[in-house]
Amino acid sequence: MAPSFLSFVSLYGIYLRRCFATSGLTSQFIDIDDHTTIHLWAPNPDHQTPQQQKPSLLLLHGFGPSAMWQWRRQAQFFSPHFHVYVPDLVFFGDSTTKSKERSEVFQAVSMGKLMEKLQVKKYHVMGTSYGGFVAYHMAKLWPEKVEKVVIASSGVNMRKADNMELLQRANVENVEEIMLPETATQLRTLTRLAISRRFTMVPDFFWKDVINLISCKMQQLYSENRNEKLQLLKGITLLAGDDSCKLPPLQQDVLIVWGDKDQIFPLKMAYELKELTGKKTRLEIIQNTSHVPQIENSTRFNNIVKNFLCGSS
Ligand SMILES: *[C@@H]1O[C@H](CO)[C@@H](O)[C@H](O)[C@H]1NC(C)=O
Ligand SMILES: *[C@@H]1O[C@H](CO)[C@@H](O)[C@H](O)[C@H]1NC(C)=O
Repeated sequence: MAPSFLSFVSLYGIYLRRCFATSGLTSQFIDIDDHTTIHLWAPNPDHQTPQQQKPSLLLLHGFGPSAMWQWRRQAQFFSPHFHVYVPDLVFFGDSTTKSKERSEVFQAVSMGKLMEKLQVKKYHVMGTSYGGFVAYHMAKLWPEKVEKVVIASSGVNMRKADNMELLQRANVENVEEIMLPETATQLRTLTRLAISRRFTMVPDFFWKDVINLISCKMQQLYSENRNEKLQLLKGITLLAGDDSCKLPPLQQDVLIVWGDKDQIFPLKMAYELKELTGKKTRLEIIQNTSHVPQIENSTRFNNIVKNFLCGSS
């Protein structure tokens, strides 16, 4: 049986690659230093002409197989208006390192080096879930390079109590059972928490049948570099070690986007985060979506983000 499940995922992979390619992006590997190689989808350097003065947009994914799975609809939508960069974070997809560091600050520094290597001087950054933590740190580290910041479905302000509540909702003991599913049941729990009921109820080929069929391959995708990803998760959980959240505000214009039904990071965290990130923060809530509004209602998501990035502050 296994081969047909595998071939579905491979076919979906081919489809995703084609979507990125037809958006004018190519798959590239960049050595950012002696230890670390980043894989990303980026505008083809040979096709760029100087008069193409488009702003740059960096998209940072969350826990999950690879960047492509999470940002397809954004790569397609934003590419005509922006130079879009879609990297795999370190330990995800095809990005690798020999470094011993395991934190979202390390991810942020790696992404900063990547943009330097690509000679992109200024850029907007958008991160979802784990990628939102990385986006926050990039914005804090380089206020002169990072222009506008979009934080989507990302509990950067997570405290210990939030972590405990998440475990209760999921009915599991450790956060890795949710974020790094090893069994089909765990994968379904993640799906239940991350995707709104309305969306999964759609008698859609992909969600109804295939998610079950491919779960073995999905688990494999999730479990690549499992130990390293576990350490990344522990890094965040350490941050959430006490109950006071001291998150310095950002200097940039910030957009927070959230699904009202998010079961991973519930909506109340979005309101708290808005207070913490500073006066230049806007919050947009997308009704009837959960943890991946960029997939669940991509039209609404993309329009909100485009208005924010293209509008004057
Ligand atoms: C949200 O879902 C409810 C119930 O299915 C529906 O009545 C409502 O119109 C939806 N709202 C939006 C903005 O899609
Ligand atoms: C997306 O959101 C808009 C506005 O909230 C709503 O009208 C529309 O029905 C939603 N689309 C989907 C596919 O849920």
